[in-house]
Amino acid sequence: MTTKSMKNWKLEHDDDGIAWLYLDKHDAGTNVLSGEVMEELDQALLEIVNQPPRALVILSAKESGFIAGADVTEFQNFDSEEAALEKIRYAHGIFNTLAGLSCPTIALIDGFCLGGGLELALACRYRIAVDDPATRLGLPEVRLGIHPGFGGTVRMIQTVGPLAGLDLILTGRSVSARAARRLGLVTYAVPRRHALRAAREVALSPPAVKPLSFFKTLPNLRFLRPLLARFLVKKVSAKAPRAHYPAPYAVIDLWVNDFDKPDRMLEKEAASVAGLIVGRTAQNLVRVFLLQEQLKARAKDSDYTVKHVHVIGAGVMGADIAAWCAFRGMTVTIQDRQHETLARAMGKASKLFKRRLKDRLLVQAAMDRLVPDLRGDGLKSADVVIEAIFEDVQVKQDLFKSIEDKVRPDTILATNTSSIPLAEIGKVLKDPARLIGLHFFNPVAKMPLVEVVHDKKTSAEYVSHGAAFTKAIGKLPLPVTSTPGFLVNRVLMPYLIEAVTLYAEGVPPVLIDRAATRFGMPMGPIELADTVGLDICLHVAEILAEHMDIEVPQRLKDMVSRGDLGKKSGRGFYVFKKGKPVKPTPDRRYVAPNDILDRLLCRYLNEAVACLHDKVVADADHLDAGMIFGTGFAPFRGGPMKYIETRGVDQLLLIMETLTEKHGERFKPHPAWRELKTNTEKQA
Ligand code: NAI
Repeated sequence: MTTKSMKNWKLEHDDDGIAWLYLDKHDAGTNVLSGEVMEELDQALLEIVNQPPRALVILSAKESGFIAGADVTEFQNFDSEEAALEKIRYAHGIFNTLAGLSCPTIALIDGFCLGGGLELALACRYRIAVDDPATRLGLPEVRLGIHPGFGGTVRMIQTVGPLAGLDLILTGRSVSARAARRLGLVTYAVPRRHALRAAREVALSPPAVKPLSFFKTLPNLRFLRPLLARFLVKKVSAKAPRAHYPAPYAVIDLWVNDFDKPDRMLEKEAASVAGLIVGRTAQNLVRVFLLQEQLKARAKDSDYTVKHVHVIGAGVMGADIAAWCAFRGMTVTIQDRQHETLARAMGKASKLFKRRLKDRLLVQAAMDRLVPDLRGDGLKSADVVIEAIFEDVQVKQDLFKSIEDKVRPDTILATNTSSIPLAEIGKVLKDPARLIGLHFFNPVAKMPLVEVVHDKKTSAEYVSHGAAFTKAIGKLPLPVTSTPGFLVNRVLMPYLIEAVTLYAEGVPPVLIDRAATRFGMPMGPIELADTVGLDICLHVAEILAEHMDIEVPQRLKDMVSRGDLGKKSGRGFYVFKKGKPVKPTPDRRYVAPNDILDRLLCRYLNEAVACLHDKVVADADHLDAGMIFGTGFAPFRGGPMKYIETRGVDQLLLIMETLTEKHGERFKPHPAWRELKTNTEKQA
C-alpha cells in the first residue's frame, strides 16, 4: 500500500492495484470543488494517466457527504466572461481526462452529490450510491441562474436519456439513491456496510455498461428533438420566464442543436455557462444563496441546543409552529384553553407529518413527540416557550406574568406577536431580558424566514439562542429590532395598500397582479392579500397605521365587515374555487394606467429605505435577505436594496417625484434616499 497526500486529496494504491482517491477539502466541513481542489485533482489524474492503476475509486473522506458542488463563492470573482470561460475549460479538461481513463473508474457516493460533484461522478464509468436518506443526487445549477458547466449537460443526458436527464437539469431537483438507481444514474444502490466492498468488486471485475434502451434514447433523434423542446420550453416558461431566467432555455438549445456532436456540445456548454455566470441573474441568485448562508451562519458558533419546546395557543399559528418543531425532531407540548382546539391542532399536525414523512413509523414517532397539554405541565421543563395567543397586549401580559415563575430561569420566553412592541409585553416581567420575539410567517411549513425580534432590554445571549433555535428547526433567523411591523410586514403593507387603492380606483385585480408577477414577484399583491386573509391584513394595517404614514383603505374595511376574507371564506378580491382564485379576464377596451408597477414598487422600496435608516435590520444585505425569504421578492433581482442600486437612485427619485405630483404625498421619498444617493456616489 502506498499513500500520497495533498492538501485536499489523498491517493492510496492498495495491494490489489486499486487507486483510492479521497477528497477531504482542507479547512472545510463540506467538500466543494474550489479552484485549488480542481488543480490538485488535475495533478492526481496526471499521475494516474502516467501509471494507470487496475481501477480508480473516487470517494469522500468527510464525515458527511460526497461533494456539494463547485465553490459558489468563487462565482463572484470572475471579472469577465473570458476569465470565466478559461476556468470552465480547465475543469472540462480535467473531467475529460477522467472520462477518458482506460481503467475502470468508480464514484462511491455517500451523502449529497450535487452540481459539480455529480458531474465528476458522471465522468466516472460507474457510480455506486449508499442507500440512505442522506444520499441525494442532483444538478441544482439552474437555481443559481446557470446550468451544469463541467460536462454535466452532455453526460447526464447520455447516461439517463433526454427525458429524465433534462427533467433533472431543468428543475434542479435531487433524487435518492434508489430513484437514481431506477433512472440508471447510478449503477448500484447499496447499504452503507457494503459500500466499500461493492466498489472493490466493481473495480476487480467491472461489469459491462449496458447501453440505454432504444425507447429512452428515442427523443434524441434529430427530428424529434425540436418537438420535445417546444413542450419543454412551454413547461419551463410557466415557472421561469426567459427574460428573467435564461439558463434552462440555454440547456434546451444546447441539446436541440448539438446533441449529435458531444464534443461540440461540451464546448458550447462551457461558452454558455461562462456567459450566464457573469450575467445579472446568476450574480444576484448567487448573492441570494450566500445571504442565506450568512443568515444560517449567525447561529454557527452557538452551542445552544433545544430539546423541548412549549407552545401556548393552538390557533392558526401556534398549531403550525408546534407541528413544525415536532417534525424537526423536538419534543413539543402544546397548550390551549380547550380540548377541541388541541384536537384540531393534532389533526393538522398529523396531516403535515403524513405529507412530509410518508413512512408510517416516522409519522407515529413525530406524533409521539407532540403532546397536547391543557394544563401547561410542559412549562417547567421547556427550553423555549413560544406564545401564539390572541394579538392583545393585556392578554399577552397576563399570560407572561402567570408563567414567568413556572419556567426554568434559563428558559427563552418568546412571543409570535406581529405588531406589539416587546417592551409593552415585557413590562410585566421580572426579567424582561429573556423575552424575545420569534415572528413566524404563515404558512409556517412553507415560509423559510423567522424574524428574531429584540429591543434594548433583550439580552444578546437570548437573541443568539433564538437564532440557534431557529436554525435548529430549519428556518432562517433574521435579527430585527422591535419596531412596528418589524421588517417584513412593514415593507409589505404600503405595497399591499397601494394595490387595494388601485383596485378601488377601478383597475382590474388581474392587471395589478400581472404587473407584479411580470416584475418577478411569486404572487401578485391582490392574490397575496386574499391568501393571507383580508382580516389579518386589515388588523396589521390598522396597527401599523398608528405608527406609520399609511391610510387604511375603506374598501378593505368594507370587505372584511361583509365577511369577504379572501381564500379562507371563498371570496375576497377574487372568488375562490377549490382553493384557487378565479381570475376574470379584463374587458379588452379597458386601458390600464401605465404606472401600476411604479406605484406598487415605489411604496415598497420607499419603506425598505426607511427601515434601513431606522436600523430595523443590521444592513442592506439583511434587508434583501429578509424580503426575499419573507415575501419572495424577485430573487433574480437580488432584493430591494440591490434593485435600487441596479436601477439607480436618481431614476427612482425622479419616478417618485412624478408620482407624488400625480397621486399625492405618500410617494414622497423618505429623507434617507439622500444618504443612499451619497453612498452610491461615493462607491462610484
Ligand atoms: P388564533 O386566534 O388563530 O389563535 C389563538 C389561540 O390562542 C386560540 O386557539 C386561543 O384559544 C388561544 N389562547 C388565547 N388565550 C390563551 C391563553 N391565555 N392560554 C392558552 N391559549 C390561549 O390566532 P393566530 O392567528 O394563530 O395568531 C396568534 C399570534 O400569532 C398573534 O400574536 C398574531 O399576531 C401572530 N401571528 C399571526 C399570523 C397569522 O397569519 N395568523 C402571522 C404571524 C404572527
